[in-house]
Amino acid sequence: MTTPAHVAIIMDGNGRWAKARGLPRVAGHRAGVEALRRTVRAAADLGISWLTVYAFSSENWSRPKSEVTDLMGLLKIFIRRDLAELHNSGVRVQIIGDRATLQPDIRSLLEEAETLTSGNDALTLVIAFNYGGRDEIARAARRLAEAVKRGDISSEQITPELFAEELDTSGIPDPDLVIRTSGEIRLSNFLPWQSAYSELIFQPCYWPDFTREHLSEALREYTGRERRFGGLAARDVAS
Ligand code: FPP
Repeated sequence: MTTPAHVAIIMDGNGRWAKARGLPRVAGHRAGVEALRRTVRAAADLGISWLTVYAFSSENWSRPKSEVTDLMGLLKIFIRRDLAELHNSGVRVQIIGDRATLQPDIRSLLEEAETLTSGNDALTLVIAFNYGGRDEIARAARRLAEAVKRGDISSEQITPELFAEELDTSGIPDPDLVIRTSGEIRLSNFLPWQSAYSELIFQPCYWPDFTREHLSEALREYTGRERRFGGLAARDVAS
């Protein structure tokens, strides 16, 4: 298999990275932003077209208020400081997740990032912020139910393809590869619909330690795998 077009990453382990160094959790998140910067550059160099990162889940609101504030602040700093460089490198930024409950200043920053970079085509960086897969699916179902109620569509017209168009990821190809760092082996409500046929790779390193070499290693492992999408392996088709 060739290079995956779309790689999605669960950036996990910031807190444990900080704890191992006797540092506050926010130091881990700050180092996580550095790792994100490195990874965007590496992904573009390695020929990846879409990179999705899980930056804040809809379940992260249950963390202590100070940590939520830190994560919101880091997103603002990331967009303010890095937007020009991302734009100059031809990166298009897209956001998935529920924006309705975010503060207006964050919402407008996210919109600014999307609008400024909408014409770029080197790499698309999809930031999952206030994102939860079940919430995304429920919001899509609600919109379709309203369309049926209005009489715009009939319930028989609802197919997986039509449903996918209502998700936040409409227009974004499904991830070929999902990587999770920190050794945890689960998806934690990240792209549950979209990752139905994704290859999954779990790496033990904490996210702040993630380097270009970790990404290359994951791509090598992906290349050695065979994707069948519910069909047969190529060697078994003729027999
Ligand atoms: C998981 O580590 C990571 C997060 C909840 C946030 C990910 C955020 C970043 C990498 C930095 C922010 C980036 C942007 C663009 C805002 P954890 O805190 O769950 O780590 P732990 O499991 O070791 O406690």
